[in-house]
Amino acid sequence: MSSDAGLGRDAGPPLPRPDTEVVFDPATYTEGVPFDALARLRDAIPVAWIPEVAVLGWPEGPGFWLVLRHGDVESVLTRPKLFSSWLGATQIRDPATPQALGYVRRMMLNMDPPEHARLRRLLSRSFTPRAVARLEDRIRGHARAICDRCFKGSGGEADFAKDVAADLPLLTLADVLGVPEEDRWLLFDWSNRVIGYQDPDYASSAEFDPARGTPMAAEALAVRPAPGSEGRMPDPRTREGMPDLYAYAHLLAQEKRRRPGDDVMSILLAQSDENGGQVSVAEFENMFWLFAVAGNETLRNGLPGACIALIEHPQAQEELRADPTLMPSAVEEMLRWWTPVMTFRRTAANDCQIGGQLIRAGDKVVVSFTSANRDDKVFADPDRFDIRRHPNPHLVFGYGPHFCLGAHLARAQMSALFTELVARTSRISYAGRPAFLRSNFQRGVKRLPIAWTAAKLTKRVGVRAGPLVAVQRADRLDFAPVEPEVEQVDVLPDPVRVDRLGEHDVAALKVPAQHHLGRSLSRPAGDRRDRGIAQDVATPERRPGLDRDLVLGAEAAQFGLG
Ligand code: HEM
Repeated sequence: MSSDAGLGRDAGPPLPRPDTEVVFDPATYTEGVPFDALARLRDAIPVAWIPEVAVLGWPEGPGFWLVLRHGDVESVLTRPKLFSSWLGATQIRDPATPQALGYVRRMMLNMDPPEHARLRRLLSRSFTPRAVARLEDRIRGHARAICDRCFKGSGGEADFAKDVAADLPLLTLADVLGVPEEDRWLLFDWSNRVIGYQDPDYASSAEFDPARGTPMAAEALAVRPAPGSEGRMPDPRTREGMPDLYAYAHLLAQEKRRRPGDDVMSILLAQSDENGGQVSVAEFENMFWLFAVAGNETLRNGLPGACIALIEHPQAQEELRADPTLMPSAVEEMLRWWTPVMTFRRTAANDCQIGGQLIRAGDKVVVSFTSANRDDKVFADPDRFDIRRHPNPHLVFGYGPHFCLGAHLARAQMSALFTELVARTSRISYAGRPAFLRSNFQRGVKRLPIAWTAAKLTKRVGVRAGPLVAVQRADRLDFAPVEPEVEQVDVLPDPVRVDRLGEHDVAALKVPAQHHLGRSLSRPAGDRRDRGIAQDVATPERRPGLDRDLVLGAEAAQFGLG
C-alpha cells in the first residue's frame, strides 16, 4: 500500500464521492434524494456522463448521459425517433440478455411510434368518460372507507405508508383491471417484486393471503417462483421471473372475454383497431404487467411523499384545512415536490447533441424528472413547497408520446385521500423516522410513522346548490331546503356562497357542532316535505353528482331503514 494512501485514510474523513457516483448509487436514496448534488450537476454539467459502477451485486455498466435541465428533458422526450424507448428499453440497466430485451419490447412503455400509437389509441379510447366518472366515484368511496378505518377516535398513530397509502392504488387498479378485490394484494406483491428488486425488504413480498383469493389467484400462486440460494427472486423483468402474474393475466383475459364487465380492461378487450384487429392475449398480458406496476408503485410512494410534504409544512396543512379549494394546486405541488418516478431512459438512435453535448448513436440517455422539477430556470424558489404555485409545469408524469396514461387517476386518488385526511385531522406529524426505498428509479417510502389528532370540528356538512342543504351529524343526517333568501352558508372560517357550488356538487365542509346554518335547519325531522326531498336526492340517476353513501346514510338514519 502506498504511504499516500495510508496517510489519506488516517489523516481525516474520507474524500467526498463525486456527485456523479452519489446520484447513481441506489443506496444514496435510503437517506433521501441528493438534491445538492443534482443542483451542482445541473449548473455545471447539465448533461452529465454517469459511470455505472458496480453496485449491489450488479456488474459495471457502460455508463449513461444524465439529462438534468427541464428544457432538455422535454426536448429528449418529444423526439422518440432520435431518443428511442425501444432500442434498449426504458430502464437504466440494460436487460440481462437479448431474450430479456425482446421480451420487454412487447410492452407499450418500451415501444416507439407507430407501434406504440396503436395500443395507446386503443387504451385511450377505453377510458371512456363514463368509465372514468365511475372510477372517480369509486376512488372517493375507497378513500373515505380507508380513512374511516384508520382515523377513528380523537387521535393516534399509524404507518401512513402501509395503513393508509398502500390500499388505495390497489383498490383503484382492481376497478380499472376488473380484478376481484380479494385478489388485489397479488398486485402489491408483484409490483414489490419488480420495483423492490434493488431492495431486499421488497423483493420477495408475500402480503397476499391465499385463503381469501379467488380460484384464479390459487392457479397463479401455484406457479409463483421461489427465492434462489442467495434469497433473490428471478429477474422480474423477464417472462420467467413473473410466471404467476402472467398466469393470472391470462385467466383474467379469458374471463373478461367470456363475461365482460364495465371495467376498462373489458372495454379494451372488446375494441377493434383501424384494421379490425383486437388486442392479442400477449398484448393484454404485457399491459396487465404495466398497469399492475405503473399504477401501483408510483402512487403508493407518491401518497406518503405528499404526506411528508404536509408534515414538514404545517402551515400548508392549515391553509388546506381552511380552504379546501386549494387542493388541486396542492396536489400538483405535492407531486412536483416529491416526484415519485425519478428517472426514465431512452437510447440515442443517431449521433446528436443535447444542450451542446455530443451524444453518440447507441448511448444511453437518462432523463432526471427529480432534477427537472427543481430547475430554477422554470420554478421560482424551486425547493420551496408552495401549494399555490402557478404555473406548475412539472414533468412528474413524463412528457410527449409516453405521457402517463394514469395521470388523471393518480391526481384523483391524491385529491380524494388528502381531502379526507385534512378534513378529519387538525394535525399530522411524524411519530418516528420514515424509511426510504433503496432505488435510483422510484422515490419510495417503506414506512412513514405518523401521529394524528382528530379535527376539533364535529359535524360534517354536505351542501349542494339549488334548493337543498344536507347536514350530517354524528348520529343522523338532515335535509332541508335553502330558503330563497339564503345566499351563503356560514361555514367557519369563511362563508361559502351557495351559488358558487356547481349544480350537482356536494362540498364536504365542516362546521362546529353548535353552528347554525341559518333558518334552513329549523324544519323538524320527519316532516313530510323533508321526506319527499330526501327520497328525491336519494335516487342516484336523478342526482348523479350526489354522494351516494351520504344519501343512503341519510335514508337509513332519518327514516329508520337500517
Ligand atoms: C403518481 C403516480 C404516477 C406517476 C409519478 C407516473 C409516472 C409515469 C411516467 C413518468 C411515465 C412516462 C414513462 C416514459 O416516458 O417512458 C408513465 C407512463 C405510464 N403510466 Fe404512469 N405514473 C403514475 C401513475 C399511474 C397510474 C395510476 C397508472 C394506471 C392506472 C399509470 C399507467 C401508466 C402507463 C400505462 C404508462 C405508459 C404510457 C405509454 O407508454 O404510452 N401510471 N407514468
